Amino acid sequence: MKTIVVFILCAGLAVACSSRGKWESFSGDPVIEHKVDSVLKLMTWEEKIGQMTQYSADWDITGPVMKSDWETYLKKGLVGSVFNTVTVDGVRKLQDMALSQSRLKIPVLFAYDVIHGFRTIFPIPLAESCSWEPELMKRTASIAATEAAAEGICWTFAPMVDVARDARWGRVMEGAGEDPWYGSQVAIARVQGFQGDSWKDLRKINTVLACAKHFVAYGASEGGRDYNTVDVSRRSLYETYFPPFYAAEKAGVATFMTAFNEVDGVPATANKYLYTDVLRNEWKFKGFVVTDYTAVNELVPHGIAANEREAAMKAVNAGIDMDMNGNVFIRNLPQLLKDRKIKKSEIDRAVRSILEMKFLLGLFDDPYRYLDSTREKNTIMRPEFLQVAREAGRKSIVLLKNKNKIFPIEPNKPQTVALIGPLVKDKINLNGEWAGRGNREQSVSLYEGFTEVYKDSKVILTYAPGCDLTTEDRSGFGEAMDVAANADVILAVMGEDFNWSGEAASRTDIRLPGVQRELLQELVKLGKPVGLVLMNGRPLDLSWEDEHVDGIMEAWYLGTMAGYSVADVVSGNHNPSGCLTMSFPRSVGQLPLYYNHKNTGRPVEPENPGADYRSFYLDSPNTPLYPFGYGLSYTSFDIRNMQMNTNVLRPDGEIKVSAVVANNGERDGEVVVQLYIRDIAGSVTRPVKELRGFRKVFLSKGDSVTVEFSITPETIAMYNLDMKYVAEPGEFKVWIAVNAEDNRNEGNFTYRK
Ligand code: NOJ
Repeated sequence: MKTIVVFILCAGLAVACSSRGKWESFSGDPVIEHKVDSVLKLMTWEEKIGQMTQYSADWDITGPVMKSDWETYLKKGLVGSVFNTVTVDGVRKLQDMALSQSRLKIPVLFAYDVIHGFRTIFPIPLAESCSWEPELMKRTASIAATEAAAEGICWTFAPMVDVARDARWGRVMEGAGEDPWYGSQVAIARVQGFQGDSWKDLRKINTVLACAKHFVAYGASEGGRDYNTVDVSRRSLYETYFPPFYAAEKAGVATFMTAFNEVDGVPATANKYLYTDVLRNEWKFKGFVVTDYTAVNELVPHGIAANEREAAMKAVNAGIDMDMNGNVFIRNLPQLLKDRKIKKSEIDRAVRSILEMKFLLGLFDDPYRYLDSTREKNTIMRPEFLQVAREAGRKSIVLLKNKNKIFPIEPNKPQTVALIGPLVKDKINLNGEWAGRGNREQSVSLYEGFTEVYKDSKVILTYAPGCDLTTEDRSGFGEAMDVAANADVILAVMGEDFNWSGEAASRTDIRLPGVQRELLQELVKLGKPVGLVLMNGRPLDLSWEDEHVDGIMEAWYLGTMAGYSVADVVSGNHNPSGCLTMSFPRSVGQLPLYYNHKNTGRPVEPENPGADYRSFYLDSPNTPLYPFGYGLSYTSFDIRNMQMNTNVLRPDGEIKVSAVVANNGERDGEVVVQLYIRDIAGSVTRPVKELRGFRKVFLSKGDSVTVEFSITPETIAMYNLDMKYVAEPGEFKVWIAVNAEDNRNEGNFTYRK
């Protein structure tokens, strides 16, 4: 038996104040500071404001197209950054324009939404977070950076680190789910993946600047409707929405992006509290802040600025450095400066930060950053990148139900498997939303994957689409029923259109769209084993499916190698180990839903769940259908014999808590062992459970291991009544578990000063 020690990383948000004097650079390197200042000295105010201006070229648009003569501005040296231009030729063309005609020849920073891959597309971030493998997420971010950099991209608008608890919100697909602590680990991994481990790595050929977005609380939009109003307390910011941003900042993220929503009555893009008081003064962020797309302009419809001039003034005075595609800074800041409505020092601070990033990337030495077509060709979609994509896909899949062991569908068992559904042969949806420049036609369909993986097997594959994803068209039902009736096993492959999640893709009904469930109902009536593979971008309401089909596999959108990844898992070549990072509700009416909720004064009594005047629904349990942290395997694991070396924690002390994890099933496999705590009584109310550690463990069948976690005062630290980040003395519970509802191994301890 081996012992594994797990140290818990806690993203505590230490509070400290700073008085801002001289410019403090991101790198702290005096040579870079000197270079930045020497350029700054040469610049006119108009040129400085130009650096604070970003335009979208017209390849990919995610908002209203602004009427701007951006090419004229570019030639005059009045554009700091351009996004949505790719390829060596595209980037070179625009950089040439900026360099050959502008007075100071300051290179342009090329940006792009490289969210889950650039040309090689990896699983959507929500899916990948289900791998519980930060190292893997770092690796995929790093490959994405390598491919993007080979096409001249220097800056990605990622990672999106918004905590998301409402599956109606389409943007849940971009993040790491509902937990702030876990989200912080993922944020660190992704920042390091894009940027490298230190600012010095930005000089390397294969890194890009990262951007923590959307600061902040975008995931709390009312009703799960994108861009909607947010109303959260300062406490919720510190406890729930800030931590992944704080973690990203401490990991050295170079930039932040504003959120579209308001926070405490002030849209984020005009919110001085967020960008100056918290981000710069408290957290000491030294990079720069870009707005979201036209977010300065949107201060007018938000009703906080009478016109765009006022909007520009409020944004700059809040601490915003770059205007994304809004045209507002370039048009208004020169006059606002003359009218002394904004400070020169604020403009200089913003421009220094932007210039510094250009120096760190080496753009002043080589504005094309090693750009060449051979490198581009040799870098894009390398076989080893595709291998990582296949691996990431397998690890992102979550097995939700497996009655009678319908999965795996054994290759050496003679049987006919009917593949039914609109996503069997589909290639277009597999990359999901925000799929960079991934070529959708190049993605491996499930059918192609199955054909390859089952090619020398005893399995016969048959196929019928049955219906499409969204319409009411039932004309394919007949053929699908015929094909299914002649099979031994039915595997339905269904889900959402990729455009139904991501930005501006909120839903009020999160069941399978169109007539897919109806088709499934017909298939179930055949009385044969029915498995369901799902491809979608959010937790769905699967209550009916859970009751009626034998197996459910959540495959999300897995990207370029999707078909192979799914086939690897369905065939049993890979034993699934993915675990949910967002709770799956029983119905949309439960949303928002998350495991780390508060207890309330009238919680449901577990021993008497029907007791009246308690906090429950008349028509549904409070619990999710599938909880946070949940995922099945083809083998089974037992966790037992939880031990604690002491039940008293002291300020400089530590508790070692361990349990024996055993693989008592039929196959080798991996399990995510999770550590949860509960603070029984604090100066403010505490969640019923909080994740504070995890370890993914591989065990051969029949093997066992002792997994040990360390609990220190930092593990239990929280924001007290005075908003101080402290460990409060008192009683605590602790669990070692395989999901947030697993209470089998529970312990208690006391924290005493
Ligand atoms: C709007 C989105 O909210 C943001 O995430 C994205 O980076 C920008 N558009 C640029 O495409």
